[in-house]
Amino acid sequence: MPAQSTLILPQDYFTLSEEAAMPRIAEARRRLGRRLMILGHHYQRDEVIQFADKTGDSFGLSRQAAANQDAETIVFCGVHFMAESADILTRPEQAVILPDMAAGCSMADMADLAQVEDAWDEIADALGDGPGVMPITYINSAADLKAFVGLHGGAVCTSSNAAPVIRWGLSRRAKLLFFPDQHLGRNTAAAMGIPLDEMVVWDPRRPAGSLGGNTPESLRRARIILWRGHCQVHQRFLPEHVRSFRDKFPGIQVIVHPECSYEVVQMADLSGSTSFIIDTITRAPSGTSWAVGTEIHLVDRLRRAHPDKFISSLVPGVCLCSTMNRIDPQHLLWVLEELERGEIVNRIKVPEPVASRARLALDRMLAIS
Ligand code: 13P
Ligand code: SF4
Repeated sequence: MPAQSTLILPQDYFTLSEEAAMPRIAEARRRLGRRLMILGHHYQRDEVIQFADKTGDSFGLSRQAAANQDAETIVFCGVHFMAESADILTRPEQAVILPDMAAGCSMADMADLAQVEDAWDEIADALGDGPGVMPITYINSAADLKAFVGLHGGAVCTSSNAAPVIRWGLSRRAKLLFFPDQHLGRNTAAAMGIPLDEMVVWDPRRPAGSLGGNTPESLRRARIILWRGHCQVHQRFLPEHVRSFRDKFPGIQVIVHPECSYEVVQMADLSGSTSFIIDTITRAPSGTSWAVGTEIHLVDRLRRAHPDKFISSLVPGVCLCSTMNRIDPQHLLWVLEELERGEIVNRIKVPEPVASRARLALDRMLAIS
């Protein structure tokens, strides 16, 4: 197999215009044929996602990666945790490439292994011999956190299957430690009928020994311990945006991603994953109006695809995931042309034993959903 390396974009590609890059991507993609599969998350820009063989939300793309047996290489147009999950779910000889290694996720960075291990130990001490805790990680997390979850009997979830995963967890243990997104955890649990006063927030920035800002009593009462993490894109959607749209456009429907705050999700008409948002608006009758609380590339694409509907971002101005946006035509062209030259650059390879432990947690998710 060719060499593997992590590099930054060479000057020749850096100075290339997008217009010049695009026909070359199409050519390289055609020549690579079935040896290559390109996966694209819904937040990718149009110039990139047009080359994806499969598009989807995090869950759909994990399934695509797990199901693909043919391609030698998967180029993942998305962010780091997605490419890691694809690597864990594919065969060892299949290579997963992230065109720009700097395409991370700020939410995933809000929980690291040392913090979660400390929280786990503190919670166990505080609960004594009390009921067990099940760790559940949102897929937006590093592979070593998924491995931690796998090792402790828990599962991964995404925005499209958080409810069945939480139900599964609570049917096995009395409590969940849910990280890193407090909003997805709270919104999903509340929609399942779990009262807010049975959820507490664990703040990893509190000093060691302070139970993340909780008391032993509040931890004992809680059914869900929510990690204090959030998405910087989705936290920008506020209740006043919902109110203002409803005032200006009576009858407009508000649809948001569950990474938005509890208040926003409560006020919205509908909430769900990126695929849910796309499917709902696509199926809606002509003439309907939508204010959408998620990343701007998806909203703009929906608006262009459905000129018969009024579709607007819920927030005035641009609500963009800057790390998703790092995957540009120049990076995509570069990794494809390197592949043609027999070089694998920017390969995502999760080492053992992390990969097999993380796979336990991912496989549990795939079995539950
Ligand atoms: P989806 O799983 O809904 O595509 O969401 C991924 C994500 O990162 C949203 O911010
Ligand atoms: Fe991460 Fe938020 Fe970007 Fe999704 S939108 S990849 S959660 S930073």
